Amino acid sequence: MKNFSLHLQTRIEFGQGTIARTGEEAAKLGKRVLLLYGKGSIHRNGVYDAIVKSFQENQIEWVEHGGVSPNPRLFHTWEGAKLAQEFNADLIVAAGGGSVADEAKGIAAGFYTGGADELWDFFTRKASVKQALPIISVMTMPATSSEMNEASVITHDETKEKFSVRTSLLAPKVAVLDPNVTVDIPMKQTAFACTDIISHLSEGFFTHTDPFAPVQEGFSLTMITAVRQAMDRLMKNPKDLDARSAVMWAASLGWNGLGAAGWEGARIPCHTLEHPVSGLYDVAHGAGLSIVTPAYLKLRKAQITDRLRTFGKQIFGMEGSFSSDDVIGVLESWYQTIGTPIRLGEAVDSYDISLLTEEAVKLNGIWNASGLSDEEIEQTYRLME
Ligand code: NZQ
Ligand code: ZN
Repeated sequence: MKNFSLHLQTRIEFGQGTIARTGEEAAKLGKRVLLLYGKGSIHRNGVYDAIVKSFQENQIEWVEHGGVSPNPRLFHTWEGAKLAQEFNADLIVAAGGGSVADEAKGIAAGFYTGGADELWDFFTRKASVKQALPIISVMTMPATSSEMNEASVITHDETKEKFSVRTSLLAPKVAVLDPNVTVDIPMKQTAFACTDIISHLSEGFFTHTDPFAPVQEGFSLTMITAVRQAMDRLMKNPKDLDARSAVMWAASLGWNGLGAAGWEGARIPCHTLEHPVSGLYDVAHGAGLSIVTPAYLKLRKAQITDRLRTFGKQIFGMEGSFSSDDVIGVLESWYQTIGTPIRLGEAVDSYDISLLTEEAVKLNGIWNASGLSDEEIEQTYRLME
């Protein structure tokens, strides 16, 4: 196991009624809040009303910045930062999914910059974040772990580059998780979320180079099994609160640094190849991952035969003699059953393999985290056709 330093900085407030305490939590960090949200779900599920009531009860003054899009954009992020500057905000309350949490992190860093270009420099790694506003995440879409991690993923409006910044300054101070607000998430979106969580947990499992990693492997496989079981229950009853709770907690744990700590050689090839898909074609991130993951496994199947076998046995209960292709086939069938695409043509009308490859090579140059050569990147995109 390699050395690691881990400091999980986010306090979790989990369960029914927790959103009503948002104002109380905000008051511990300041008096003036930028309230950030997406395109309307928080108005439909009561989250907005509960937050505003809690602000009023705690003498919080606030300004609102709505309209965050899935795959959040740089210019909207900068508008939020400008608004926060004008309002002299003390903190940000981000109410919504991973996109809202990610944009909140962009605003938190952008608050201390003078424009969108300066803000984008954090994402291209030309500059590093030196200070950021504190964030409270009221997470309504369990998927990304953004409520509990240090990363923000933003897409540049013009170039469509989908890049990320990662620093402890951006980890939310508090994450408010009420699974009740997730029971009405449409099943398609729920499937995308579960696909994303499973990818966060399986990237390391399929790529690590540790000869003995029972802690990290055990964490990954157990959590993936939990998400798979919960998703199967939700297919029968989307309002199953126990299953929704399991997905919500698994989402937070899946990509917060805990499970992967100490893992030698763990990489993120599927995320490196997915970001160009959602950045260029505005596909949901989870949908992109159910296309990329089988293709990556096909590319690497000869090197990871034993791990695919373990995955098939533990996650899908496969028995007797079966091949790597059988495991990938079962995974693809499960994606199809829950309603996520497995080929590029199912998700977008037209696509350009050369452009996808170019973007992924660029991102790989910044992250250096795929373990794939340029040729292998192109080959993997071809396996998604
Ligand atoms: O905009 P609203 O109206 O809020 O609707 C959203 C959006 O349309 C809706 N939604 C959210 N909560 C809901 C709900 N609908 C009904 N009931 C609720 N309770 O769901 C739609 C998708 O929301 P979004 O926030 O985009 O989804 P997700 O949480 O999957 O976030 C995806 C973004 O996060 C990035 C992705 O690349 C993508 O841009 N990621 C961030 C990571 C991180 N910060 O660590 C890691 C991930 O790997 C990922 O890259
Ligand atoms: Zn992801």
